[in-house]
Amino acid sequence: MNIAFFASHRGSNMQAVIDAVNTGRLNARPCVVISNNGDSEALEKAQQSGIPNYHLSSKTHPDPGELDDEILNILEGHRTDWIVLAGYMKKLGPKVLQKYKGRIINIHPSLLPKYGGRGMYGVAVHEAVIAAGEKETGVTIHLVDEEYDHGEILAQCTVPILQDDTVESLSRRVLEREHVFLAETLERIARGEIIIEN
Ligand code: GRF
Repeated sequence: MNIAFFASHRGSNMQAVIDAVNTGRLNARPCVVISNNGDSEALEKAQQSGIPNYHLSSKTHPDPGELDDEILNILEGHRTDWIVLAGYMKKLGPKVLQKYKGRIINIHPSLLPKYGGRGMYGVAVHEAVIAAGEKETGVTIHLVDEEYDHGEILAQCTVPILQDDTVESLSRRVLEREHVFLAETLERIARGEIIIEN
């Protein structure tokens, strides 16, 4: 299972998957990392791990069709089987979406369909969860389609909200859970325990 990662900033989920591969918890190979942000920590982390990495964005390819073509070329050149969006702030182009349909997943820090969609990322998610007085939140891993946070849900786990939780403490606890859950879910996909019907 060759995995391509897309990440815009920190890349801690990507790193957690790389660590799971390196410690034998996940039978997969990170084959390429793509970021729309040339200064992202995600690209630095890829370099440190010796994974081929590319900055591809409207800066490098002002024409969206050409950007879509180039991303597809690179994915195919690195023999990508699965795409993992791990904090990727852009939408994928139609050619990549079509070519990898049913093999693109995203991780989101809430129990979708709650607290997802445009603008619902980073602390905004946890702020909304706390403001609504929820007793629990969680992590969702879902297939990617043309809409933000919208495709079929493949796996979810819950995270309790404690009485004295702040946005910071909750963000931290959900992120820790994400790191474990993403690698576990990829391993279940690799083993064929999660069946995806195209
Ligand atoms: C994570 O919370 C993920 O669920 C969301 O964006 C964040 C990315 O964090 N899609 P990181 O870049 O993996 O540290």
